Amino acid sequence: MPALDWETWREEFPGLRRRTYLNTVSLGQLSNRSRSAVNEFLDLWAEFGASAWYSHWMKEIDAVRREFARIIGASAEEVAVMPNISSCLAAISSSLDFSRRSRVVSCELDFPTLTHHFLGKRPLGVTTSILSSPDRVHVPLEAFEAAIDRRTALVATCRVFFTSGYIQNVKALADVVHSQGALILIDDYQGTGQIPIDVKATDIDFLVSGGLKWLIGGPGIAYMYVRRELIPELQPTSTGWFSQQRMFDFDPMNLEFRHDAARFEAGTPAVAALYAGRAGLEIINEIGPASIRQRTAMLNQDLVARLQGRGFRLRIPDNPERQAGITVVEIEDPLEVVRKLADRGIIIDRRPGAIRISPYFYNTISENEMVVAALEEVTRSRR
Ligand SMILES: Cc1ncc(COP(=O)(O)O)c(C=O)c1O
Repeated sequence: MPALDWETWREEFPGLRRRTYLNTVSLGQLSNRSRSAVNEFLDLWAEFGASAWYSHWMKEIDAVRREFARIIGASAEEVAVMPNISSCLAAISSSLDFSRRSRVVSCELDFPTLTHHFLGKRPLGVTTSILSSPDRVHVPLEAFEAAIDRRTALVATCRVFFTSGYIQNVKALADVVHSQGALILIDDYQGTGQIPIDVKATDIDFLVSGGLKWLIGGPGIAYMYVRRELIPELQPTSTGWFSQQRMFDFDPMNLEFRHDAARFEAGTPAVAALYAGRAGLEIINEIGPASIRQRTAMLNQDLVARLQGRGFRLRIPDNPERQAGITVVEIEDPLEVVRKLADRGIIIDRRPGAIRISPYFYNTISENEMVVAALEEVTRSRR
């Protein structure tokens, strides 16, 4: 399949025939490939029973690691396959020593699971600084700079903010973090797949992402990168048998962690999710995040121009290069607007005080036209 034949790629996602779907920011579309991969998992289960672990499923975990590593410029040994972001955070923070440096820096535009995780560590003496945003779009690098010092253990923040689509300059932030001897964790759930990233060039210590959105792999799977040099010194205190070097020795007396990032994995993975997830990652690698970014940026800029032309108030970065594939429109009663659009077969999403529209590579300009026309109609009396 030619990488840039967008119409052909669109056919891979049959749900797009039934609805105008501009909501990848919440959940990516199901591909034919993910559906057949899950069917393959079910067939293997029926055919082989438990021996499917040895013949296929353990290899599937490795394949997932390789596909994700390729997207972010890492090696497969630096990738752990996890069930969700919250368990990635638990695995990482259970490996860190907060006794000498007890501070974690995040910001109010980060996804709540990130801040909640570290706020939950308060009884263990961890303090969390949650930086404010001056405009609800971004947080200036200077604010991070002012908050990070020798007491900081970790800066944990998103590359792309889920309520403004703003793309942070991760390399500049990593430089600040490292100059103070701290570590940087990037929650890239809203970035990986839709915008290229190279974890080596950006000097990230930990990156977490997952299947739900731009990696079109569905729920139940997350991916975690840990910089190679850090792996041997990090011993998760929350662990399990999948983290062990000799798991099939079934030795309950000794703990010997794997030498790669799989030491963070802990327990049995949801195998159906592995199959759906890998198919999504393969599609992203086949098209390539650079081409996806180009296409998604074009669709978003078209959408922004149409909305601004009709007088809608947008909450987006001033510079289009800083805008990911998420267009946030400030609106009264977003729930009602989302419902009325759904009645017209148009799927978008809402967050407090705003709606989010998120065209991805499989969407089209004519779908932008449809969503803007419908929005104008349902909000006419209020604007
Ligand atoms: C930036 C970001 N982080 C994390 C999550 C989800 O975290 P978890 O996998 O723990 O449910 C989401 C969305 O669901 C998100 O947008």
